[in-house]
Amino acid sequence: MKKTSLITRAVSLFATGFIFVSVTVLLGSCNGLGNSSGEVDSTKGLKDYYEDYFLIGVAVSPRSLEGEQAELIKKHFNSLTAENVMKPGPIHPEKDNYNWADADKIVEFAQANGMKVRGHTLCWHSQTAQWMYQDSLGNLLPKEEALANLKDHITDVVTRYKGKIYGWDVLNEIVVDDPDPAKVYRETSPWYKVAGKEFIPLVFQWAHEADPDAVLFYNDYNTENPVKRDKIYNMLKELLDAGVPVHAVGLQGHWKLNDPTEENLRASIDKFASLGLDVQVTELDINVNLGREDPDSTFTPEREQKQIDQYKMVFNVFREKKDVITGITFWNVSDRGSWLDRRGKKAYPLLFDENLQPKKAYWEVIKF
Ligand code: G3I
Repeated sequence: MKKTSLITRAVSLFATGFIFVSVTVLLGSCNGLGNSSGEVDSTKGLKDYYEDYFLIGVAVSPRSLEGEQAELIKKHFNSLTAENVMKPGPIHPEKDNYNWADADKIVEFAQANGMKVRGHTLCWHSQTAQWMYQDSLGNLLPKEEALANLKDHITDVVTRYKGKIYGWDVLNEIVVDDPDPAKVYRETSPWYKVAGKEFIPLVFQWAHEADPDAVLFYNDYNTENPVKRDKIYNMLKELLDAGVPVHAVGLQGHWKLNDPTEENLRASIDKFASLGLDVQVTELDINVNLGREDPDSTFTPEREQKQIDQYKMVFNVFREKKDVITGITFWNVSDRGSWLDRRGKKAYPLLFDENLQPKKAYWEVIKF
């Protein structure tokens, strides 16, 4: 081979190598490979890093199961929760009318992609179906009639998804935030107005009769607040002592940059687990919005760092307590759309940004 062609070949090889390395680095940084953790496999999703720990779930709408969001969901999550469409109001708007289509779509997507489904929720004071407990004039129905409606609802919904939904948030948010330890129940709940606390054991029993294999949850927020924690603990203990089929507690996990503290988070998980219950975090998000005194809610570097620290802290605790924690579910897919975004204020509460790319907090959550 001539000397000139050898030189040409060497230059071209060098150029090819340079281009290859550049493209690899570029792609790597797009995929997050260039992050500080060093050894990240871009084919793995959140669920894969946590496969020896617990399920990683996400709350979805039927619309989010299409296009690029669907791809993100398939890569990172192995459990789905319906954000709205399985709640009593949306799924059962009239006595003889069920909207199964949206809920079915979520269950079918999960089955087609080897994911589990958590049911949310069978009995709640919000997004409930008014016909179940009041007449057309707004008067409360007699207790027997209202409870019969609720029983039929729970039986029908749980039966339809028997074997397809592994666990249900049977009862949501019946305990109040009132700092007075003596004020336990949400007395403004239509179900409390109808039947006092009598309906509480019944909803678990009806769900259990419809699907004896389903894991039955009590689900609430502010579960790390010591006063509310004790109220919930006492209620659950009373139910368990009476033989009511409650199997797990859902800590919703609508958290903030400085809340909960590590101490309170640990204390809540330990206290509920001491009852022999499984624990899940069922609606996780960490809001960077600081409340009323924060008119803009921008995602400043300082808030980003605080969010990273908070995500790191809570996942450290989750991993440490993997013997009792069976699932962590995020409430919404990405910062593109969160229930917390209101009146122009964004909350930036999740691990994926508005372009569906992993945020810095994501890389910290998988670095262990
Ligand atoms: O679907 C209707 C639509 O037909 C109507 O035109 C429109 C007008 O407002 O409202 C739409 O319904 C909204 C629904 O979300 C679906 O988008 C409701 O107004 C809105 O209130 C509802 O908000 C949901 C909220 O629960 C209701 O309390 C959020 O999306 C949902 O993320 C949120 O989820 C709850 C959990 O179930 C329980 N824990 C707290 C959590 C956050 O609040």
